[in-house]
Amino acid sequence: MVTQVCVFRGDDAAPEAVDPVVELLEECTNGLEFVIAPVGEYASALDNGELPDPLRELIEDSETVLFGAASSRHTPVIGFLRYRYGGGTYANVRPIKWIPGAKTPLKDPTGIDYVIIRENLYGLYAGPEGDLSELSNTEQRLIETPHDKGKFAVRIMPEDPIQKLAAFACEYAQQMIDSGPVTITSATKSNVLPETDGLFDRVLEEEVNRKGNLEFEHLHADDAAQRLVTNPTRFDIIVAPNFAGDILSDLGAGTIGGLGLAPSGCYGDTVAYFEPVHGTAPDIAGQHKINPTAMLLSANMLLEYIGEDAIARELEQAVTQTYSSGEILTVDQGGSASTEEFIEALASNL
Ligand code: IPM
Ligand code: MN
Repeated sequence: MVTQVCVFRGDDAAPEAVDPVVELLEECTNGLEFVIAPVGEYASALDNGELPDPLRELIEDSETVLFGAASSRHTPVIGFLRYRYGGGTYANVRPIKWIPGAKTPLKDPTGIDYVIIRENLYGLYAGPEGDLSELSNTEQRLIETPHDKGKFAVRIMPEDPIQKLAAFACEYAQQMIDSGPVTITSATKSNVLPETDGLFDRVLEEEVNRKGNLEFEHLHADDAAQRLVTNPTRFDIIVAPNFAGDILSDLGAGTIGGLGLAPSGCYGDTVAYFEPVHGTAPDIAGQHKINPTAMLLSANMLLEYIGEDAIARELEQAVTQTYSSGEILTVDQGGSASTEEFIEALASNL
């Protein structure tokens, strides 16, 4: 039985990270077939904001998806993967773990090892936005502002996906219990958004309490942000609404060495796809110096998802060895290796 993994190389510099990672995986795994999505063949449809059926079918016929990063052409793909694939990938898991040897601005990053689980679909990201006048022209003014010129955004918090996210986070937490008690931190702004974030906190707290073997705490998202810098080892699992989770995960990445080292996986009921936390790095496109660690660690999460734990562990060890020895690192990490040279060095540690 061959397991098919669909690969979207992504935009700008993303393919430069994807290609050597996929080559490495092809060498060191068995029974996996990596199918590169023929995005170029459907360029005009994608550029029109549509996902053509053959690409959708390729995704749906595959076991899972490895995704580079999207800016322009791949935007319809990521829209599908987030909002429609398997009914929506509502849980974005972003582990923040310091690899010894990785250069960080923190004096002592030892022991940083927590997971941000970000609500992946709603909050401020599902729209709509519009003209402030649309709100202030209604009979009953919806907002207290003397200003008619400007814009608004709507922030929605539908209960079902939050419930699913909470269940997902608790299940994830329970798998960590073997190594000690686990606290789930809700990082929200329920102090100023008591309806939307209040709901988020309540659903999560109730789910945690139903489990009986997990701890719950609430931190204001801004307070959580400063603690991620001043006391990052206190955290186990942070669950956050979309916008806060997006920001906190980049912050967390900064503390462990930057976006080049932060992987992620997006999970739905019966599907998942894997993408690094970083964007497409257009400023370094074509230079073959993007750090592929985030991509590789995302691929590792993919391998775990499809039950290839042993090779995932081996790859993680090779990553650790490469950083600990510190000889061959990419430019963002103070080295001079190209993306390909870094992967070669890592492969020699396998
Ligand atoms: C991320 C990115 C995306 C997001 C952008 C590219 C839409 O920042 O995955 O964190 O905000 O979700
Ligand atoms: Mn982001």
